[in-house]
Amino acid sequence: MTETPVLETRRLVLRPMRITDAEALHVPLSDAALMTWWSSAPHGTVEETRDYILPRAGEGRWRWWTITRRDEDVALGWVSVGNRREGVSEIGYLLARAEWGRGIAREAVSAVIDHLFKAEGHRRVFADTDPDNDGSNALLRRLGFILEGRLREEWETHIGVRDSYIWGLLRDEWRDPPRNGEGDRRSKSGGGGGPPPAQRLR
Ligand SMILES: CC(C)(COP(=O)(O)OP(=O)(O)OC[C@H]1O[C@@H](n2cnc3c(N)ncnc32)[C@H](O)[C@@H]1OP(=O)(O)O)[C@@H](O)C(=O)NCCC(=O)NCCS
Repeated sequence: MTETPVLETRRLVLRPMRITDAEALHVPLSDAALMTWWSSAPHGTVEETRDYILPRAGEGRWRWWTITRRDEDVALGWVSVGNRREGVSEIGYLLARAEWGRGIAREAVSAVIDHLFKAEGHRRVFADTDPDNDGSNALLRRLGFILEGRLREEWETHIGVRDSYIWGLLRDEWRDPPRNGEGDRRSKSGGGGGPPPAQRLR
């Protein structure tokens, strides 16, 4: 199993998930609107969250980084990475609603992607999203991912049968993460800098 090293950014520390994160992670995992596009239903109890993250806090085919602030070790969300084959990984992420719109997801996901490409030498990172998940699709586009395809009726989730968007990013396409904190869309408009928009899906 590849390691899950602690990754630091200007505002964040990403560290391996622990079972003691359950209480904090129950906040986003019990948020029905936030969970709309997730592959499983919102959680009703902290016990359900504990059962959900238990296998994720140990060994497995996926690695789970808990997102925390530098000055407070409280789980805000996570970035997960599944090793699909040598050099190819799938990423996933989730962030508590109170943190949205500050570029936190971009900062956290950038740090993990940077680690995968530069420290681990991966050639490809991909993500699988719901076509209607505007936040997730915008984040991936912002990070320079290319929309590569639409898989019809790929998932059956708690909201029914759903198509999937597949987004891919290659090592040679990866640009250094944008300056942390510049993405606070609650205090200013426009994104500045950053990678070019993804090409349209034909
Ligand atoms: C997807 C998610 C992590 C984004 O978190 P966030 O902290 O708001 O994202 P950021 O602030 O880092 O924004 C990254 C970019 O996406 C854009 N964006 C984020 N949410 C958006 C939305 N709902 N609509 C349009 N653009 C959006 C931002 O404007 C930003 O682009 P910019 O730098 O050009 O301004 C968050 O909405 C979430 O946890 N959603 C629920 C879980 C989920 O759906 N996970 C993904 C499953 S595939």
